[in-house]
Amino acid sequence: VITVMGLGFVGLTTGLGFAEHGHKVFGYDIDSRLMARLENGEIPFYEPELGIKLKQHLASGNFRLVDNLAAAITASRYIFICVGTPNRKGGGINLDFVVQAVDAVIKNHSAQSFRTIVIKSTVVPGTVRDFIRPHIEQQGLRIGKDIGLAVNPEFLREGSAWHDFLYPDRIVIGAEDRHSESMLCELYRSFNVPVYKVSSTTAEYIKYLSNTLLATLISFANEQSLLAKHIGDIDIKTAFSVLHRDKRWSGSPAKMASYVYPGCGFGGYCLPKDTQALVEQLRLQNHNPVLLSSVLAVNKAIKEAVVADVVNIVSPTATIGILGLAFKPNTDDVRETPAKDIIGMLLAKGYINLIAYDPLAMPAFKAAYGLPIKYADSLETCVISSDLLVLVTAWDLFIDNKELLKQKPVLDYRFVL
Ligand SMILES: NC(=O)c1ccc[n+]([C@@H]2O[C@H](COP(=O)([O-])OP(=O)(O)OC[C@H]3O[C@@H](n4cnc5c(N)ncnc54)[C@H](O)[C@@H]3O)[C@@H](O)[C@H]2O)c1
Repeated sequence: VITVMGLGFVGLTTGLGFAEHGHKVFGYDIDSRLMARLENGEIPFYEPELGIKLKQHLASGNFRLVDNLAAAITASRYIFICVGTPNRKGGGINLDFVVQAVDAVIKNHSAQSFRTIVIKSTVVPGTVRDFIRPHIEQQGLRIGKDIGLAVNPEFLREGSAWHDFLYPDRIVIGAEDRHSESMLCELYRSFNVPVYKVSSTTAEYIKYLSNTLLATLISFANEQSLLAKHIGDIDIKTAFSVLHRDKRWSGSPAKMASYVYPGCGFGGYCLPKDTQALVEQLRLQNHNPVLLSSVLAVNKAIKEAVVADVVNIVSPTATIGILGLAFKPNTDDVRETPAKDIIGMLLAKGYINLIAYDPLAMPAFKAAYGLPIKYADSLETCVISSDLLVLVTAWDLFIDNKELLKQKPVLDYRFVL
């Protein structure tokens, strides 16, 4: 038995979706007018199929609207919190509705039977760990013993909420306790989709990772349309259609995904040069593309962050092994390679014991930059000679030699190990 608190787009879809999967679901919302409308089978927003499903599951008894929250909670093993999380005046998240809902659960919970509170509302990373969990514990309940707690973000899109809920790409479960994790895995088993079990903060973050990427892509396109208008004589519609014909958008997973992956900066001949040239041309015309300028700023900042990490870990007397010199794997191109800036900054900070290894790009790097560093004749030599390894290029060779690399502390900026 499941109770869903908050019956907006997300809550109503969640409740009816679980009812469709054969569960008994209680739906509760503090808005009594909304409850009355739902009771009549009326949905106050446009969402195809949901109206039919509401009537169907009210009739079957799988979905019941309740005003007696106490009874619903007592009967439920899962409490899904789907209330709104609007912004406060300054933009920060307002968690008042979430806290009110959690408090209502606690008030009606008895530790005799285990139930888990599942936060489906979108909450900023760290909310459950830093705020909701301590809030519950302050009231004398032990997480995992007396009550469960988990984050389970929702990725549905308005307009296709029903379909998106029933056929999700993935389910993310960020449980604070093992019991809740296995309960949620069990609940979602019938969906037959990949389930990712992560920390509650990772689960919260994944939702923001997704939404902020989408927001960034839209702003990217909008900034581009503004700068194209500024330049003039550009067929914006055609230009974007041609962009979309890039094969990297399609496939599963689409190759474009490799560009949305953290590393230590873009390099090579084209991306740095062309981004800089376009920004500079527009600046000279008093048109400042803020997003593109930030793109360049981030590309600088990420390399500075790598150096700051090294400085935090070891002193200048340490030997640092730089793994990878090419700007990307499977090339010996070292133009604008992040390795060059990282090595340059380390040398400037007095880290003079640098030894590098790259399966292909050592001769090109040596010839291009003539920096005072050593070059290892093998990966093994590089590892053995180093106190700290900094993985800069995601060569397969490094991935294939994980165990060797892990003999030393590794800063893996390509997230491959
Ligand atoms: N709308 C979307 O497409 C979407 C998609 C994914 C995630 N989300 C997230 O899901 C959450 C809910 O979004 P939504 O669009 O369904 O919001 P909504 O505003 O449509 O619905 C929220 C409902 O919660 C009710 N509520 C508030 N406090 C309550 C309480 N203490 N007890 C019971 N009910 C209470 C409100 O009356 C309202 O009906 C938000 O955090 C949102 O960011 C939304």
